[in-house]
Amino acid sequence: MSLERTEEFDRGDWLEDKELSRVERGYLLTLMWLDKRLRLVDYLELLEDAYYKTNLQMPKSHTEQYNLDNKFWYWYPLYSLGSLSIIAYVLLAISGALLGFYYSPSATSAAGADATIAYNQIVFIQTDLNFGFMLRSIHRWAAQFMVAAVFLHMIRVYFTGAYKEPRELNWILGVVLILLTLLFGYSGYVLPWNQLAFWAAQIGLEMALSVPLIGEWAAQLLFGGFSPGAPTLMRMYILHVFVLPFVVTSLIAIHVGIVWMQGIAEPH
Ligand code: HEM
Repeated sequence: MSLERTEEFDRGDWLEDKELSRVERGYLLTLMWLDKRLRLVDYLELLEDAYYKTNLQMPKSHTEQYNLDNKFWYWYPLYSLGSLSIIAYVLLAISGALLGFYYSPSATSAAGADATIAYNQIVFIQTDLNFGFMLRSIHRWAAQFMVAAVFLHMIRVYFTGAYKEPRELNWILGVVLILLTLLFGYSGYVLPWNQLAFWAAQIGLEMALSVPLIGEWAAQLLFGGFSPGAPTLMRMYILHVFVLPFVVTSLIAIHVGIVWMQGIAEPH
């Protein structure tokens, strides 16, 4: 369908013939005003057209093809693991944004203090901030929960054979998503800059260094040098609050969009 607008149909005349209340008329006139400027109807038609074309190409599940009554498998509990991952992710985004008001990614110490500013901010959140302990706990527990849910979701997809044609691309996208979920967890783990965080950074750095050929380059890029320090904390912070949220949110949207187009695979 082309987006050329024909003027043969005047929506204004059409409205005059109708018996409508003032509210209905106002509502329709508003829609028409918007349509004239934003061509809503044309774009909706295009969207509908594309949607049905895509769906007609998709293989139907056995249940749909033969119109079987038994749709019980739609309700299998393990099929909820993907959605549970999304719920955990939303919870993480909200609690993380709130934690971000109080955290500071600084590995230096304030004058006269021993501990770093990053660590002190975590102590502040835990002990002084109203509901701070709860906020941090929600963020940490949701992170553990998401990693577990994503992993179990992958296992469920594997054992129900849902990765097979035509869903290979979504499986590959899933592999990227689980790796990014782990990277999310790792970069967050480093942020408190306590002993656990520091030595986790050391281990990560050495893992990066051990990669053949590009090891040194990878260590510099991800950790900002060859031993953990202020640049390491800053890089993990930027990854955790700026890069990963945009990338992972977009990939989850594409992942779920593909599920929406293809439908859920039936258990084999
Ligand atoms: C951030 C992580 C992830 C999120 C939020 C997510 C979300 C979802 C959701 C909501 C569904 C709909 C069906 C269901 O819930 O079981 C789904 C389906 C699917 N996911 Fe994921 N997923 C993630 C990671 C993964 C991983 C790690 C894999 C595999 C490596 C994967 C592969 C698939 C496949 C192949 C489907 C289609 C399954 C079917 O049609 O039955 N996903 N995903």
